[in-house]
Amino acid sequence: MTYRNFLDLSSAGADGIAAILADALDRKQARAGWPKGKPDADAPLTNHVLAMVFEKNSTRTRFSFDAAIRQLGGQAIISDSSQMQLGRGETVADTARILSGYCDAIMVRTDDHAKLLEMAEYASVPVINGLTDASHPCQIMADLLTILETGTSLPGLKVAWLGDGNNVLASIVEAAGLLQFDVVAACPQGFQPEEADIARGNGRARVVGSPREAVEGADVVVTDTWISMGQDHADTKLAAMMPFQVTAELMAAAKPGAKFLHCLPAHRGEEVTADVIDGPQSLIWPEAENRLHAQKSILRWCFGQIG
Ligand code: CP
Ligand code: NVA
Repeated sequence: MTYRNFLDLSSAGADGIAAILADALDRKQARAGWPKGKPDADAPLTNHVLAMVFEKNSTRTRFSFDAAIRQLGGQAIISDSSQMQLGRGETVADTARILSGYCDAIMVRTDDHAKLLEMAEYASVPVINGLTDASHPCQIMADLLTILETGTSLPGLKVAWLGDGNNVLASIVEAAGLLQFDVVAACPQGFQPEEADIARGNGRARVVGSPREAVEGADVVVTDTWISMGQDHADTKLAAMMPFQVTAELMAAAKPGAKFLHCLPAHRGEEVTADVIDGPQSLIWPEAENRLHAQKSILRWCFGQIG
């Protein structure tokens, strides 16, 4: 079987991303108003089974991928790694070979990115990154879809990132380099992204110390939890992050009508104030729903049906 892995946005490249987004827009529109469990008219992944392996908690990724494969006509088998032999030391490589015998694709949420790469190396079916400590490409596909739906084109866009220099930022920067938009990230000292992550932006991303400088002229303002899964809930980190909180005052310093995005889960009063995340500039609900629509097209791309 010929297939493609979706390990990072660079797996798809600019053309693949464009094909996935166009397909997602079409398919979303074609089934508007339908019951969520009704398969798409063409059910393009009928008889396909998606394995999902979670080493970390999830709400959106778990439910949206399950709904996605159902809408494409297939089925999912979902497990936490703690309930698998993986949680007792069976290797990733052996797990990859075993799951490849039962399932047509594997989605993995894990900590060390190397485990995702190992899964892809030993699987004989497509492997999809459902978040690692290094990146979260499926989230950024949903974010790009959400921005496109506002009628804004991606080249030339200015995105401001506020807060922790984390896995979600790394994927936004990668998208910027591939799709020719700019990212300015304001992160406190000690919590800035790795230079290698910024380099993935091909010169389209930079880090500043001032939140106001980051949001100046921004079309989209993005933040994420200050404490990612697997990190210590340290008071010192929360204190360092506080000046980088997304407030109504900061949103007012961005472009008029700038949009607010957050991958969720959110912590109101920490990385963002309630009036912003629950206010008129926030697109968090369509952003979360778009995980479903974007991932359906990612799955189709993995099987060579588009792009
Ligand atoms: N945004 C996101 O990936 O959410 P979950 O952790 O709930 O899957
Ligand atoms: N940066 C967050 C994203 C959660 C969807 C984390 O890794 O926990």
